[in-house]
Amino acid sequence: MSINKRERIDWLMKARFGMFIHWGLYAIPARGEWVRSQEKMPNEDYEIYFKEFNPTNYDPQKWAQLAKYAGMKYAVMTAKHHDGFCLFDSKLTDYKSTNTPAKRDIIKDYVDAFRKENLHVGLYYSLLDWHHDEYPAYNDPYHPMRGNESFKNRNHDFSKYIDYMHGQVSELTTNYGKIDILWFDFSYGDKTGEAWKASELIKMVRSSQPDIIINNRLGGNIKAQNPEIYAGDFTTPEQMIPPEGIFDELGDPVPWEACITMNDHWGYCSHDKNFKSAKHIIRLLIECVSKNGNLLLNVGPNAKGEIPDESVEILLQIGKWMDKNGESVYNCGSSELPKPEWGRYTKNGRKLYAHIFERGLGPIALKGLKGKVKKARLLSDLSEIKVIDSWNGTDYQDYAFLDVQWSNLPDDIDTVVKLELKE
Ligand code: GLC
Repeated sequence: MSINKRERIDWLMKARFGMFIHWGLYAIPARGEWVRSQEKMPNEDYEIYFKEFNPTNYDPQKWAQLAKYAGMKYAVMTAKHHDGFCLFDSKLTDYKSTNTPAKRDIIKDYVDAFRKENLHVGLYYSLLDWHHDEYPAYNDPYHPMRGNESFKNRNHDFSKYIDYMHGQVSELTTNYGKIDILWFDFSYGDKTGEAWKASELIKMVRSSQPDIIINNRLGGNIKAQNPEIYAGDFTTPEQMIPPEGIFDELGDPVPWEACITMNDHWGYCSHDKNFKSAKHIIRLLIECVSKNGNLLLNVGPNAKGEIPDESVEILLQIGKWMDKNGESVYNCGSSELPKPEWGRYTKNGRKLYAHIFERGLGPIALKGLKGKVKKARLLSDLSEIKVIDSWNGTDYQDYAFLDVQWSNLPDDIDTVVKLELKE
């Protein structure tokens, strides 16, 4: 990784936890952000939602405060999703939130509110566009009008779309002050890399935002020894946590951020109540950190502009845990020790954090740490935990043991023990 890349991505990889926000007209049909494509919905039918969009309860400051309370350090919000609807006041289209009954530049209000709470702000921008006349429809695998005979002979000029897309990215990166993250979505088939005029796009963005961090979805190979300039600063596994972290061709770690949903949709879906528990999500966050990655956790606000109650509740629970244990997340990464039987390790210099998920029985075994632990404290209240060298005789020479007195784990979500290692 170049020094530039390493320097600019440093804060993000220390931040570890962010909020993804998927919001747009699709909050009204409330069947997820792919609804137009999945239902092959013509533009006229979707237009109803454009005329109706009026989220009177949109209060980005509330969202920002919630994100902050949950322990998140940054956010990424959809400025335009695949449906082409813009939540910002683009001069290049009429298809934007300022022309709906909302009459607001939603992105401007988001950026201002999140900055005010000292959160880093990111913008998601869809490379796909199902509303733009110059974007391929009939032969495209995802366009709502794919295979539709009336679109078969429609003339379109993709280069005009590319100009439009570059123009909008320019607006987003010049009209809203410092943007911390630009999150493109997504490349497919022959629509990848230079098909998006990606090198030119990156140069343009960097000329106005030299420190902006850009994801990997313009294409290219971020794992290559000499990646393309558009290959991205970090990679974005989706709805999964990579088994052993991510490494480049030389074996060096590649910065990554797993993006996951709280239920099974990104955009608001009224019938989807399949929410993960706070405990599950906290453990996923720890799994990411233990493998040098970040977690970008999604919320899909509804048509009124509210984050769903279930998501709010989960975020509050996460915040409660983070308040006591955040030290084991921020600025932390993987440890060279093998994954322990009872949970996971995260590490920050000489500070090693044992995340205990399973109580087991008797003292807790720390493989490879015999004689190496200066002291151990329960992170939530800094109470002492004795470290004993040998347990049940001399069979476990390589181990230190935590002489815990609990019969059940003090924190069923994740009991964190802070271990200070000797120099
Ligand atoms: C997928 C989906 C998109 C969503 C994104 C988030 O690419 O197509 O709807 O925004 O994942 O990573």
